[in-house]
Amino acid sequence: MTSILLTSILPTSILPTSILPTSILPTSILETARRTCGNGVYRSGDIDRQVAVFGWVQAYRNHGGVLFIDVRDRTGFVQLRCETDRAAVYATALTLRPEWVVAATGKVISRASNTNSKIATGDVEIEVHALEVLSEAQTPPFEIKDGVNANDDLRLQYRYLDLRRPELSKNFAARSHITQLTRKYFIEHDFLELETPILTKSTPEGARDYLVPSRVHGGQFYALPQSPQQFKQLFMMAGMDRYMQICRCFRDEDLRADRQPEFTQLDLEMSFVTPEQLYELLEGYVAMVWKEFLGVDIALPVQRMTYAQAMDTYGCDKPDLRFELPLCDITETVRGATEFRVFTAALESGGRVKALALPDGSAFTRKDLDTTLPQEAATHGAKGLAWARIAAGGEWSGPVAKALSVELRAELAAKLGVGDGALILFVADKAAVVNASLARLRLVAAERLGLLLKSKWAFLWVTDFPMFEYDDGEKRWSAMHHPFTSPRPDQVHLLDSEPGAVLAQAYDLVVNGTELGGGSIRIHRSDLQAKVFGLLGLSDEQVRDKFGFFVDALKYGTPPHGGIAFGLDRLMMLLVGADSLRDVIAFPKTARAACLMSQAPCAVDERQLAELHIAVAK
Ligand code: AMO
Ligand code: AMP
Repeated sequence: MTSILLTSILPTSILPTSILPTSILPTSILETARRTCGNGVYRSGDIDRQVAVFGWVQAYRNHGGVLFIDVRDRTGFVQLRCETDRAAVYATALTLRPEWVVAATGKVISRASNTNSKIATGDVEIEVHALEVLSEAQTPPFEIKDGVNANDDLRLQYRYLDLRRPELSKNFAARSHITQLTRKYFIEHDFLELETPILTKSTPEGARDYLVPSRVHGGQFYALPQSPQQFKQLFMMAGMDRYMQICRCFRDEDLRADRQPEFTQLDLEMSFVTPEQLYELLEGYVAMVWKEFLGVDIALPVQRMTYAQAMDTYGCDKPDLRFELPLCDITETVRGATEFRVFTAALESGGRVKALALPDGSAFTRKDLDTTLPQEAATHGAKGLAWARIAAGGEWSGPVAKALSVELRAELAAKLGVGDGALILFVADKAAVVNASLARLRLVAAERLGLLLKSKWAFLWVTDFPMFEYDDGEKRWSAMHHPFTSPRPDQVHLLDSEPGAVLAQAYDLVVNGTELGGGSIRIHRSDLQAKVFGLLGLSDEQVRDKFGFFVDALKYGTPPHGGIAFGLDRLMMLLVGADSLRDVIAFPKTARAACLMSQAPCAVDERQLAELHIAVAK
């Protein structure tokens, strides 16, 4: 104990240790006492314990003769009580400032009549017997507390300070927990945890690659993996049977709240497996995670819907099923039944007309209908938004109403299943525009109606994706999932005649409207793989050049196999209720793919470029 008192008299923070003769070097609390527990876990059961507390000064209050100091670590904070009768402690306490790092020893005591039930540790405080400053801090650029009103860029620049905030820091403890649960689950199901290269050859996942120039091979480049897709398939060919990896993927694409250029996948592959067996294993996984982490029981089996059903009923391939609000295709109902120009023009050019009916439209004002909702629809290409209201008494109003006969109104109301008080939104255009814009309006409406409950969980398998989608820009077919995805066996015969109609053995797991994971059964025959590459417009030479090793490998005895990858960041976002991937990725990038803290990317010096045989175009 004497050494601790000595420390308080000779604060090491003021005298640089290097100038102190070793013989009088104080023994610090760090060396004499072990941290008792996390600061946030002290409870009344700890009263009378002798303890050592370490952490950051979060707040201090001077009550004349008593100084109260809240000391934080990632588990929470506890209040230190420093009194004048311990002069050295009190003197040190007076010097403390926010974010200084301190150590204290003392005794847990009751706060008696001053308990604070809003704070986890609010029943107790630490009567400090010795106090030390371990590190001083400059005034932080923003206050470190939840709900802090600091500019996003500033928070990213000082990410290590932002991460001290309890709200954010708890997400990373959660992330570690989920990672452990994940490994345990798959290892218990006989998976091997294996690693794949980061410096690799580009995989055609659909986004742009991040390239890494080779110094040794001038003018040649590695690509950072968009996913370990080919390598995990090669593991199956190598006989590894069941592979899992928590791996980093890199995609140079336009970023959004749920997309980062560098993100983490839970990547899986299995041999000798059917989609049914995969669904069962993965449902077991998500059920385990939701139960262990949130205490929530997911109803199994998870609901399923084909891609075609999802597009038809909800206008998108990742419908949020926490609420209904289906879209209704009224193309055939209105065809020939109205002269409303907007509808007839769309029909003449082969388009569709769909409606979103809200049984109670009272939450939407005229301004919403004239401005807010059309703007939302326009972001997905809609040229306008027609609407009709049904007043009490069955009277229709709105820009489209006068163009609809009494009979047509009755037919529409019956088809849409709505009556008095309803609001109906119509979009007429090409199918893709109609679907995308009404799917957006469905979400906007649900948000306004308070239907996006964070406490509700709607899981959905979307199955039977098309193999290919037509790329209008490039004038060729492209793979909807990736080129290694197998067609459904009953569809192979359509590959030549009608590639656009071929359905794949591909599936996505959707949770509350977020695509959590996607995967497929793979092609395991080299002739079929060659055919699919051909349909994607790759010449034999291009196939040899890009995928030669892979196509060769398929010829040496490839087991039937399939797998999936979950976005681990997206999983975390859902579990902790975050609105952005930034809240679950420790050091995220901005929408312009920059790290504001380290200032990456940055220019490099000429010598480095020369070594890499690179000249930067001015
Ligand atoms: P896919 O490209 O669908 O499949 O990716 C799988 C999952 O990864 C997540 N994800 C992302 N998360 C954050 N930021 C991004 N930019 C990002 N892009 C994708 C999503 C997505 O569902 N190799 C295949 C999987 C397979 O077939 O097994 C693949 O990567 O949650
Ligand atoms: P207009 O005849 O152009 O005045 O449009 C009449 C109504 O139809 C307006 O409310 C427009 O917003 C709406 N509208 C225009 N184009 C479309 C479209 N493609 N789909 C749905 N409504 C539209």
